[in-house]
Amino acid sequence: MKKMTEQHLINAFGGESQAHMRYLHFADQADKENLPNTARLFRAISHAEYVHAGDHYREINYLEGGFVANSMAAFGPGDTKKNLKLAIMGENFEITEMYPVYIEVAKFQGEKGAERTFAWAYGTEKMHKQLFEKAKEAVDNDSDVELGPIQVCKICGYTLEGDAPDKCPLCAAKKEDFVAFQ
Ligand SMILES: [Fe+2]
Ligand SMILES: [Fe+2]
Repeated sequence: MKKMTEQHLINAFGGESQAHMRYLHFADQADKENLPNTARLFRAISHAEYVHAGDHYREINYLEGGFVANSMAAFGPGDTKKNLKLAIMGENFEITEMYPVYIEVAKFQGEKGAERTFAWAYGTEKMHKQLFEKAKEAVDNDSDVELGPIQVCKICGYTLEGDAPDKCPLCAAKKEDFVAFQ
């Protein structure tokens, strides 16, 4: 593995791991504010970040020892309005800076496995941002978001609202490979 792509995988593993944990805490906060759909959205997306972290981790499973992960972590949690703002900020960073750059470097370096796992995360974070924006609009108006079932692909993390598709649009996994949060 080329060193720069390898470091990007370490960073992305760090970033996704933190997002996974942060969203679980945000879900607990949403529960406290009696916002069950927003809490469910945080838990579903937390699961998608867990899938991304695992996909990145598997690409570097030959490494041994401790390595420093350089990843964006959003600090300053608050109420759910604030937490949704932080979540959108994090997703936006991944979509507009982190993953596009990581994908291009992996492509340039001929690292196909890394390119694929970065592309899966990139394709998913766009959906995450949209779903968080929908929740934020409702919560900013002092109501909970109206939300159908949220489906998460357990292979690539792809996330959508509604019924699970016959085939995952990102990784081509089957309908049975989706986990529903409803
Ligand atoms: Fe995400
Ligand atoms: Fe998938």
